[in-house]
Amino acid sequence: MMTTSDEVLSIYARCGSAAYFGEAVSMTEHALQAAYFAQAADASDALIIATLLHDIGHLIEAVPDDIADWHSDARHELTGSRWLGRRFGPEVCEPVRLHVPAKRFLCATDPAYFKRLSAASVLTLKLQGGPMSSEEIAGFQAEPYHREAIAVRQWDDQGKIAGLSTPDLSHYRALIDRLSA
Ligand SMILES: [Fe+2]
Repeated sequence: MMTTSDEVLSIYARCGSAAYFGEAVSMTEHALQAAYFAQAADASDALIIATLLHDIGHLIEAVPDDIADWHSDARHELTGSRWLGRRFGPEVCEPVRLHVPAKRFLCATDPAYFKRLSAASVLTLKLQGGPMSSEEIAGFQAEPYHREAIAVRQWDDQGKIAGLSTPDLSHYRALIDRLSA
């Protein structure tokens, strides 16, 4: 029987070498770098795995290769969190579901954050609904995992460094299978 880590590794083996939209790293490198920064920050095991798998929705649902072909938000955070929710608890799938809202939250509440966004991330922000309104901010802050989602988001934003070497996916196998048991 396939374990969850088998599934994850096969999904990344199939599509992970594709470029991470508009950035200098592949999807797999981006996932590994984000998880590397989570681990360096002493995040919990669940949060490290949430960070590693935050974009798995992009790999499950085919989206156009070129970011300029995106005419609407691909809603990858929902595809990803549904897939993860069948394998992990809320401590993994909820921060993933909320990592795009976390970007919209940070853009509304932290002017320095918006200035640091990459060009591709500014483009997708528009498709994702732009910065949150004050009502949306209150709703987001009522989410039990909103702090974890903000943390995932910040490691997500860091994980776009061409050539940064990290442990590979198999490094996370045991952790993935323990958390999804
Ligand atoms: Fe990401």
